[in-house]
Parts: sequence; structure tokens; C-alpha cells
Amino acid sequence: MWDYSEKVLDHFMNPRNVGALDDADGVGEVGSMACGDALRLCFKLDADGRIADARFQTFGCGSAIASSSMLTEMLKGLTLEQAARISNEDIARELDGLPREKMHCSVMGREALEAAMIDYYRRQGREVPCGLLVQDVEICHCFQVSRETIVKTIRQYRLREIEDVTHYTKAGGGCTACHHDIRHLIEEVWQELEAAPAGLVQVELPAAGDERSRQIREVLENDIARALRTDGGDIELVAIRGRRVHVKLTGACASCPSSGATIKGWVEQQLREHVSPDLEVVEEKS
Ligand code: FES
Repeated sequence: MWDYSEKVLDHFMNPRNVGALDDADGVGEVGSMACGDALRLCFKLDADGRIADARFQTFGCGSAIASSSMLTEMLKGLTLEQAARISNEDIARELDGLPREKMHCSVMGREALEAAMIDYYRRQGREVPCGLLVQDVEICHCFQVSRETIVKTIRQYRLREIEDVTHYTKAGGGCTACHHDIRHLIEEVWQELEAAPAGLVQVELPAAGDERSRQIREVLENDIARALRTDGGDIELVAIRGRRVHVKLTGACASCPSSGATIKGWVEQQLREHVSPDLEVVEEKS
């Protein structure tokens, strides 16, 4: 028997925001009834571009209901840029934890959020920001789990065993026909992880005691690099020259056609918001 936190039990017994929104701005659906887990998430924005309401409908276990309920509560009042930074780990943390075997419920919540945001950008005819674009190659047909989800989860949680991937995503938990592919993905991701240079590159930086430099590095590492890494990308701090912060996108982000939007629309915005409004981010190409 698994141990559930008080919050999980509360959100399961008294789920918040259940239902649909007739005039939703974005709708995302993941999973399927046939798999035993399905989630539909929708949101509505207010005039300022913040999420005014979020609702969910799910066919799943108590943890799926609790994760979806908590996610809809977390979304209210956020801009889409802020919402995009909610990870499945954040959902689990807000619930005071989920049993390892139930982490896939929080992953499903994050996936539904991504799908709803992609739906929103496409309805608006806007470019989908880097990091939300998913390649939907289905690896596990029993549970309809994509390659993207499996790869991201292996990277995020540093998984090494098929059994762990099943706990976090459900992939591989049925007929086992996909085990070969999952094993291959684990090997692929670990080859990449072990070959990658560690951490941010720091060149031409002011003295370590410089408070603004410290804050810039902190936001880049904690808020930005962490989010990009869940999608196979990364960012390097190349230099800080006056008010200009020179960075380089690496990994999957390096070849992304939306890298300019990521730099100006997200990285620069985050640094201005958290460090100083006069900062300008300059992208250095490889
Ligand atoms: S295809 Fe993945 S368990 Fe059956």
C-alpha cells in the first residue's frame, strides 16, 4: 500500500476545478480511456493574459485526480510564460509528494498543460515557443507514451532502468513490446548526459562577489537552464559586459527555429524581472 500525503487525499476527495470551459482559450488532451488514464485540461485567459480559470476532466486513479486538481489551482493567475515553467516535479512537490509508482500522474498533468498551451498558440496563429514543441512518436502503444515524454523523463530524473521509466510514465507497463525501444532510449540519453560539458560556461565574468553577476547566474541556472534541460536543451553564460548578458543556447535549443523568441521573449524577460530591468540578452551563435 502506498503512502499518500494529506494533500493528495484532500485533492482526491475534494477535487477543485472539475469540468470544462465552454469558451476555453486552450485545451489539451493526453492519454486515452482505453489505457486507463486520460486527462483533458483547459484554461481561459483574462484581459491581461493571465490564466483566469483552469478546469480538468480525468479518467484515472486518485493520484491523477489529485495531480490535475492541484495543477489547475497552481495555474490560476499565472501568465503562460510562468505556467510553462511548471514541471511535473512542481506538481508533486505541491502535493507534498507522490509515491514513485504514481509519478506518471504528475507527468500526465504536465503533458496536458503543454498540449493546452500549444493549442492556445496555434489557435492564435502564433509561433509555439521553444520548449513546448513536442515530437509525437509513440513508443509505448499500450499506454500511448511518446518518445519525447520518455526521453524528457529519463533526463529529468536520471533514470537507468525500464522499471523506473514505467513508474514515471507508464510506458512499458503492458505487453512489454516497447521494452527494447525504452532500453535504447535510456542508453541514448545516458551517452548524451555523460558526454555533455558540466554546468554553465563562465568567461569574462565580473568578480564573483559582484551581486548582479551572482543574481544573473542564479536565474540562468535555477530558472532557465533547468527548464531547458527538461527539453534536451541548455544555455551557457558566455559573458556579462555592462548591461549586456551574452548567452549561447546549446543542445536541442541550438538548432531550434524559435531560439530568437526564447532569448528575447523569455530569457531576457526573466532576467529583467528578477535581476534588473535594464538588462539586454545577446545570443552568441556557435
Ligand atoms: S507497447 Fe509498451 S507496454 Fe505494450
